[in-house]
Amino acid sequence: MKKKVLVVGGGGREHAIVEALSRSMQVGQIYCAPGNAGIGELAACVPLKDTDVDGLLHFAQEHDIDLTVVGPEAALAAGIVDKFRAAGLKIFGHTQAATAIESSKDFAKRLMAGAKVPTAAYRTFTDFDEAWAYVQAGSLPTVIKYDGLAAGKGVVVATSLAEAEAALRDMLLDGRYGEGKVVIEEFLTGPEFSLMAFVSGRQVRPMVAAQDHKRAFDGDEGPNTGGMGAYTESFATGKSGLSFISDEEYNFAVSRILQPVANAMADAGTPLSGVLYGGLMKTPSGIKVIEFNARFGDPETEVVLPRLETDSYEVFEAVATGGEIPALRWRDEAVLGVVLASKGYPGSYAKDAPITVAPDFAERLCHMGTKRDADGSLLTAGGRVLMVIASAPTTPAASRLVYAAVEKIHCDNLFYRHDIAKYVIPGLTGNL
Ligand code: AMP
Ligand code: GLY
Repeated sequence: MKKKVLVVGGGGREHAIVEALSRSMQVGQIYCAPGNAGIGELAACVPLKDTDVDGLLHFAQEHDIDLTVVGPEAALAAGIVDKFRAAGLKIFGHTQAATAIESSKDFAKRLMAGAKVPTAAYRTFTDFDEAWAYVQAGSLPTVIKYDGLAAGKGVVVATSLAEAEAALRDMLLDGRYGEGKVVIEEFLTGPEFSLMAFVSGRQVRPMVAAQDHKRAFDGDEGPNTGGMGAYTESFATGKSGLSFISDEEYNFAVSRILQPVANAMADAGTPLSGVLYGGLMKTPSGIKVIEFNARFGDPETEVVLPRLETDSYEVFEAVATGGEIPALRWRDEAVLGVVLASKGYPGSYAKDAPITVAPDFAERLCHMGTKRDADGSLLTAGGRVLMVIASAPTTPAASRLVYAAVEKIHCDNLFYRHDIAKYVIPGLTGNL
C-alpha cells in the first residue's frame, strides 16, 4: 500500500517538500494544509491553518495519514508534534520543547556555551538600564536580538548608539513583541551560509549547504526579508555544496556544531526529531553560529531538496520514528532559485495581482504565496510569491537558465534580485 502523507504549511518550502515526496516510490496521496496554487498540482490542499493543531490532528486521524511532515516553526511552537505523538501518529518535526533552539535565542546561546559550539560572545538582559549601560561600554556595531520568535524582525545590527538605544527601548520597554528579554552579541563578519541536517536524537545527516540572500535589493541593499534567493553548488569544488566552504570547514560545521548541538539537546531531555538549520558564518577566526532554526529554511529548501536522490519518505519516516536515517545521496549539480516578491515586501504590499506564466516556461517553479481565483487564474497572495529554480552543471549556467525563465513570468506587482549567487559569480548584476 502506498503511503498517505500530510504536509503542514503553504509556502515555497512546503512546495519543495511536496515535490520531493511526490518523487518517492512509497508515497501515494499527498495532502497539504493549507497549501497553495502550485502545491495544488501535486497534492490535495486542505483549508486548515498550520497552527490549527486540533483541526490537523482530526484530519490526519480521519484520513488515516501514515506520516505528517511539518514545515513552519509556528506549527512546531504550537505543539503539533507533541499532540500528534500523544495520539499515536507519526510526525516529522521537533517537539515544542526542542523548538526552543529556534524560539529562544537565550536558550540557544546557553546550549552552545555548554556544548562549546563557536558563536558570537553574548550577554542576556531583561533590564533596559543594564542593557543600555553594557552597549555604551562596548563597541559598535553591536547586535541586539529579541529573545523570542519575532517573525524574522527581532534582530538589529546597530551601527550607532542611537539605533541601539531605540532597539533596546522597543524590545525591553515598549513590549512590542511581548515579554522583554534581549541577547546582545558581538558583531561578526564574513559570508553567511545555511547548513541543514536531518536530526533524530544523536543521529545527524547533513545536507548540502546553501546560501540565502536576505536583503531585499541587489547588492545586499534594503531591508531584511525572509530570503530573496538561494543556491547550492556542484561537488566540483568539494563536498559542502558551496565553493567557498572547504571540506575541512564543512566537516567542522558538522562535527563541532551540528553534532554537539544534537547531543546537547538529547542530553537535556529535549531530543531533536526534524531539521536542524544552522545559520553559519565563515569568520576570519573560523565557522561560527549566527542562529539556529528548528525547521527547513525557506528559500534554501527549494534549492537543496531537488538534489536529494535518497527516497525522502524513508528519511522523513526514520526521523519521525527514531529509526536509522538512510545515508543521503545528492545529485552533483548546481541549483539556483530567484524569489519573485510583491512590490513593497517586506513592508506592506497589495495582493490579488494576476500572474501569467508563458507556455514555454520550462524550469522548476515553487509557489510561495499564490492562489487561484474562481475562474482558475493565478493571483499573488503573499509577500514572497514565486521562486524560479533551475539546475545545471555549474552555478553560472543555473543562473542563466533562471534569469531567462524569470522573463517568462508576467505580473505587474513583482520584483526580484538580479544578483543571486553574486558571491560566487563575480560581475553578475547586469551581465546576464
Ligand atoms: P538572525 O535572525 O539571527 O538570522 O539575524 C539576521 C541577520 O542579522 C543575520 O542573517 C546576520 O546577517 C545578522 N546577524 C545576526 N547576528 C549577527 C552577528 N553576531 N554578527 C553579525 N551579523 C549578525
Ligand atoms: N532563509 C532563512 C530562514 O529560513 O530562516
